[in-house]
Amino acid sequence: MKLSGSTALVTGANRGLGRHFATALLERGAKKVYATARRPEQVDLPGVEVLPLDITDPDAVAAAARAAGDVDVLINNAGITTPQPLMTGDLGEIRRELDTHFFGTLSMIRAFAPVLGGNGGGAIVNLLSVLSWRTFPGSGGYAAAKAAQWSLTESARLELAGQGTLVAGVILGATDTDMMAGWDVPKNDPAEVVRTVLDGVEQDLLEILADDAAVATKAGLPGDVRARYPELS
Ligand SMILES: NC(=O)c1ccc[n+]([C@@H]2O[C@H](COP(=O)([O-])OP(=O)(O)OC[C@H]3O[C@@H](n4cnc5c(N)ncnc54)[C@H](OP(=O)(O)O)[C@@H]3O)[C@@H](O)[C@H]2O)c1
Repeated sequence: MKLSGSTALVTGANRGLGRHFATALLERGAKKVYATARRPEQVDLPGVEVLPLDITDPDAVAAAARAAGDVDVLINNAGITTPQPLMTGDLGEIRRELDTHFFGTLSMIRAFAPVLGGNGGGAIVNLLSVLSWRTFPGSGGYAAAKAAQWSLTESARLELAGQGTLVAGVILGATDTDMMAGWDVPKNDPAEVVRTVLDGVEQDLLEILADDAAVATKAGLPGDVRARYPELS
């Protein structure tokens, strides 16, 4: 997948990783970048095409697919985090996690798959998380939604292979954006994460481990569950 000359659409491009993706895609020579946002007036990047888009609004998703029929790279970046434990957390917020990460991403892929297919196949990049592969106390809602989004990524890859669409899943840990503002932990530089992801897309990687936390989490998966969860011992 060559990003130079591509036409990309980024969700949640007004801030955080999405803003970095839109900037980096232009720097890599993308012909056009649709920077989409729930509040499009917040997109402050020169040289992008701004579109309003809430990924949980089916009409807005359909309108975006009609307006951006030239897209061949879709970056499903938009996300939220609501610290909800599954046993005691707010069910409405837990549903919102799934509405955003699972149903929102699915809705985007279903709307844009024919667009990508018509434009030669292209690529879909889904921003997953180390929490797709393990959970932390108090993050059950987010982790369940990110795990569902991981499985959706695997299915979409199989279902779209026939039309030549590369579907890449990105696993990453704590990164320095608003999402992690309240957390006093070591964080990745978002520009570096985006560079790693776009390098991976250009190498046709299906799974992009964007940082050491992603590599360590993957390495721990075949081991005993208790070894992965010190909280249990
Ligand atoms: N930062 C991390 O440590 C980390 C780690 C692992 C994975 N991730 C994933 O990386 C992605 C980007 O996260 P980030 O760190 O850049 O978060 P962020 O700084 O909080 O930005 C989130 C972006 O998503 C947008 N968004 C949320 N819900 C949306 C919706 N329904 N429709 C359209 N846009 C929506 C937000 O728009 P508004 O401005 O309108 O709210 C904002 O632009 C997310 O999928 C997140 O789960 C992040």
